[in-house]
Amino acid sequence: MSVSVRRLHPLFVGEVSGVDLREPLRAADIAAIHEAMDSHGLLVFHDQAMTPEQQREMTRQFGVLELGFARVAGKHAATATRPPRTGYAEVADMSNLGTDNRPVDRTDRKIVGNMANQLWHSDSSFQQPAARYSLLLAVHLPSWGGETEFCDLRAAYDELDPRMKATVEGLEAEHYALHSRIMLGDDEYSEEARSVFPPVTWPIVRTHPGSKRKLLYIGVHARRVLGMTVAEGRVLLMDLLEHATQPRFVYRHTWRPGDLVMWDNRATLHRGRRWDMNEVRELRRTTTADVDGPA
Ligand SMILES: [Fe+2]
Repeated sequence: MSVSVRRLHPLFVGEVSGVDLREPLRAADIAAIHEAMDSHGLLVFHDQAMTPEQQREMTRQFGVLELGFARVAGKHAATATRPPRTGYAEVADMSNLGTDNRPVDRTDRKIVGNMANQLWHSDSSFQQPAARYSLLLAVHLPSWGGETEFCDLRAAYDELDPRMKATVEGLEAEHYALHSRIMLGDDEYSEEARSVFPPVTWPIVRTHPGSKRKLLYIGVHARRVLGMTVAEGRVLLMDLLEHATQPRFVYRHTWRPGDLVMWDNRATLHRGRRWDMNEVRELRRTTTADVDGPA
């Protein structure tokens, strides 16, 4: 068997068959997956149930693992004493479960992370380097909702009004790790926690190194535009986000247990969707850093 890809949406998204990610991958398959990521922006693999350790080792084949927000967790008073549920710092627990494997109370601070994930974002755009690929595996799913939506930032750029293209060309936005959480009312962070992720700036218009396509690098971690007042910058960022997330640019993934979705954070934004938080929703995420290194 070799990797084959079927397009699931007019603009992006490939469904992959012919590969078992739990087995060591051949160099040709890894190359084919990188190539498919460049053209499709995100890939769906079915029937890939695996342990956290398998997911960590599998992800290493695609790049350098990164920790993202887990780095701040140890400095967060509410989470400092909790070991990662997955057993590995590189395998993020994207669940609503506590250490007793039951859904946490909706007032638990962990829920803030679940809520922030329901806002459109690119993983780790608040750090330099940011995330390249995220790989999210569905373990337990609620009876309704909890889908993940993705939008195509390349198509969104292509369809910008020419005057808007001229407006955003050369502009830079500041991204900050805690912006979305503070916006949601979770603002009790120590100076030490705040200092873990100093703000970083990224061009709003970037060219993807693989596809060579221009794209809008935005999302909820962007909190201001350099050279503009906070108000003008935020309204511009909100306008761009509204444009990029119109239904024609969006794919909604309805999860099945064992689905693994791999997306390119340089080409897409994503958000989780609402579900009944009394029910279990458990996914696990690994992430590669946007650096060229051993793969
Ligand atoms: Fe995310």
